[in-house]
Amino acid sequence: MNGRLVVGGVPVESLAARHGTPLVVFDEEDLRLRCRAAIAAFGPDQVTYASKAFLCRAMARLVTEEGLLLDVASGGELQVALDAGVPASRIVVHGNNKSRDELATAMTVGVRHLVVDNFDEIERIEKLGADGLGPVAVQLRISPGVGVGGHHAIRTGQLDSKFGFPLVDGIAEAAVEAVRASGTMLWHGLHAHSGSQVLDVGQLTDFARATAAFAVATHAPALTLGGGLGIAYVATDSPADFDAWHAALAAGAQSAGWHRPFVVEPGRAIVGPAALTLYTVGAIKEIPGVRRYLAVDGGMSDHPRPAMYGSKYEAFLPRACDDARHEPYRIVGKHCESGDIVVDEAWLPAGLQVGDVIAVPVTGAYGYSMASNYNRLTRPEVVFVRDGQTRVVLRRETTADLARLDMDEQFAPRTR
Ligand code: LLP
Repeated sequence: MNGRLVVGGVPVESLAARHGTPLVVFDEEDLRLRCRAAIAAFGPDQVTYASKAFLCRAMARLVTEEGLLLDVASGGELQVALDAGVPASRIVVHGNNKSRDELATAMTVGVRHLVVDNFDEIERIEKLGADGLGPVAVQLRISPGVGVGGHHAIRTGQLDSKFGFPLVDGIAEAAVEAVRASGTMLWHGLHAHSGSQVLDVGQLTDFARATAAFAVATHAPALTLGGGLGIAYVATDSPADFDAWHAALAAGAQSAGWHRPFVVEPGRAIVGPAALTLYTVGAIKEIPGVRRYLAVDGGMSDHPRPAMYGSKYEAFLPRACDDARHEPYRIVGKHCESGDIVVDEAWLPAGLQVGDVIAVPVTGAYGYSMASNYNRLTRPEVVFVRDGQTRVVLRRETTADLARLDMDEQFAPRTR
């Protein structure tokens, strides 16, 4: 629309004006199309949304409406899913250190299954069984010895991992035996996760083969092959689609003799590309011969991935999307450290000014969900936009929200 950036039928500058910045804007139609593409590739009830990527009640409801199952990795995520009205029978519970309370809640509400990670967890489940809870369906998480992923911190399937039963020394076999012998746990199969942000899905074939071989050997009733499908953050990234992901996993599973369907748990590929974050430019500083810094009103608190993983992003000027982006900037946040980078190497049109709204695309996954209050910044508002309509799904956090946790009454908060 005249070079102006529009999401879901709404010009994003008007969203910034109405809702303030930083603002996370999801294209709801895009979210739904991604859910449908995943189901088209893997089949009904074969796709579980990994809610750690982004979760609020509206999101939990959306994936449920679209026919996805939902995985949670903590009691907090479980609570959001239940509050959203997701049937417990559609919720899968993860975690490498589930507390007794988390297990008890999951067993009481009757989740689809627990993904059991270690022998201490098995012991806790057995104790809860002895106390009268259960029986509960379980999948056993194994680490197949093949880890893949875009950064060492987000690889999980390798032998040296905190997650799952390793396929060495008969450890995973012993876990299968423990479940088979249990009166509390009902064996619903095996689970493994390779790692995250996998752009070359061909690398997942070995992972699938190793996992499926163990599933075949143990006569597992079902198999979950994790998440991990990568997405394009910058123009030079070339990710696979859901069909290619399915083909790569199926090739590995079939070569090991697993010819039945399997379940996957995408997080990033469902939500990542469906959102952008709007920021307002507050300062522009030029260091002659070095670089130009552009400071925005958020930063590593709402957008932690560059600081954590060195992740790259792009940036756009929504009021002039058709203009050539020839001017280099480093976009930084307002936090008190130099690692507070939003876009390390951004290219933007000429004429950018303080007060301009900029857009950073592909922020839907692991941005809000890993947001913090560093420097007591408040977390941004999140909106879903569709057919020209906007709904706030997470309101902007306020300093009053933060003050609620502070127990020192001596200097009670004055008016804000
Ligand atoms: N299933 C399990 C057991 C997982 O641990 C994960 C992600 C997923 C599914 C979803 O993976 P995805 O489809 O999103 O790749 N904070 C990091 C990503 C951590 C991923 C953790 N596990 C980041 O911002 O890159």
